[in-house]
Amino acid sequence: MEPARIYDQIHEFDNRADPYTLYAELRQTPVVRLDDGAYVVNTYEHIVALLHDPRVSSDSRNLAHPPATEQLPPSFIRVDPPEHDRLRGLTMRHFGPPHSPLVVESMRGELHELVKDLIDGIAGRNQADIVDDVAYPFPVTVICRLLGVPREDESRFHVWADEIVETLGPGEGSVEERTRRRQSAGLALAGYLGELAQSRRENPRHDLLSGLVTYHGPEGSMSETEVMTTAVLLLIAGHETTVNLITNGMLTLLRNPGMLERLREEPDLVIGAVEELLRFEPPVHFLPQRVALDDITVADVTIPRGSSIILALASGSRDPAHVHDPDRFDPDRPYIQHLGFGGGIHNCFGAPLARLEAQIALRQLAKRLVNPRLVTDPPPYRPSSTLRGPRHLVIAYDDVL
Ligand code: HEM
Repeated sequence: MEPARIYDQIHEFDNRADPYTLYAELRQTPVVRLDDGAYVVNTYEHIVALLHDPRVSSDSRNLAHPPATEQLPPSFIRVDPPEHDRLRGLTMRHFGPPHSPLVVESMRGELHELVKDLIDGIAGRNQADIVDDVAYPFPVTVICRLLGVPREDESRFHVWADEIVETLGPGEGSVEERTRRRQSAGLALAGYLGELAQSRRENPRHDLLSGLVTYHGPEGSMSETEVMTTAVLLLIAGHETTVNLITNGMLTLLRNPGMLERLREEPDLVIGAVEELLRFEPPVHFLPQRVALDDITVADVTIPRGSSIILALASGSRDPAHVHDPDRFDPDRPYIQHLGFGGGIHNCFGAPLARLEAQIALRQLAKRLVNPRLVTDPPPYRPSSTLRGPRHLVIAYDDVL
């Protein structure tokens, strides 16, 4: 089949449960030109090279045909240096010394308690939905506490956050329609967070939002709009990704006999298991919005300046040229290297938190559920092929310890 058609098929909902065989076909052509002139890069080596290439921009305003100006400027995930580095730095400083996981590490006890309470909540029955009962409420509560967003407002911003994610990649409706929906949800969420930031400006508390609005240092401070776009980014990133890591994790552990028993007996195995999950069943399958700032030649294909580049992270992480026996889930691999958190200057800011959340959730689920099993396999998936994961994961069990 023509490579561009394979790419289309990957985005068809019917292939959500297993896009991996299609990625294998797609990798026969490391760089695929789509009908709309975008280029999809599929192999580990070439994705890594582009993630670190300063000729590759994250700012869609550099496209040969840039999208209509949005009402809100992009957050730092969508801009280049020096703006990116300034805003990332101003955010990072509230997570402890540069690149230190100290703040996250100090949350370990609190995270453990949150998971414990959620699992207590499914005791006394013999079925639960891992998504709605554990994997979704857990990271949402964490990011809300971190930012200082009232948890009881969750039902309001959940709808906006979902809308932003579902309209990110290819999907239903035209590009214009999806952009319009994404922008209106983004504005609503930004308006909500902007009001909250204003109240923190007047009455600061011990939370990230207060830190962002009150900090004035040698590297400057954030404008009101920058606080808003950064808060939207963090809320969405904290909302829509970790849920998939925990759910994909439980699904994979249940599909691999003996894994849960091993986790119960060797709790430290969870570290390798989460790393291998980020490779084998990652939450983020594509980075859909890079731009070539120059003509760039990749695997003998010249991507013209101004073109859109799509990095197929999930395909790269299963590239047999990079990893032996890529379609096997093996947490004992001595060296697990993956693209689950991207790479280069935009590598995931929340990686230490996401890892710790997934480790704590999976370890406790393994320890406390007696004889857990899948009720439907494959489970129903969420629509997005870009941020991919089950909408529900119903499991049955005999008891909760
Ligand atoms: C960036 C994945 C959790 C905050 C990224 C990128 C990936 C990613 C692939 C690169 C985006 C790009 O290059 O365009 C994930 C996964 C997560 C996760 C798989 C969970 C399992 C989180 C959490 C937070 C977070 C919990 C917030 C606390 C961010 C931010 C960026 C980012 C702010 C942008 C960094 C930059 O542009 O410099 N993430 N993420 N992520 N992530 Fe995460």
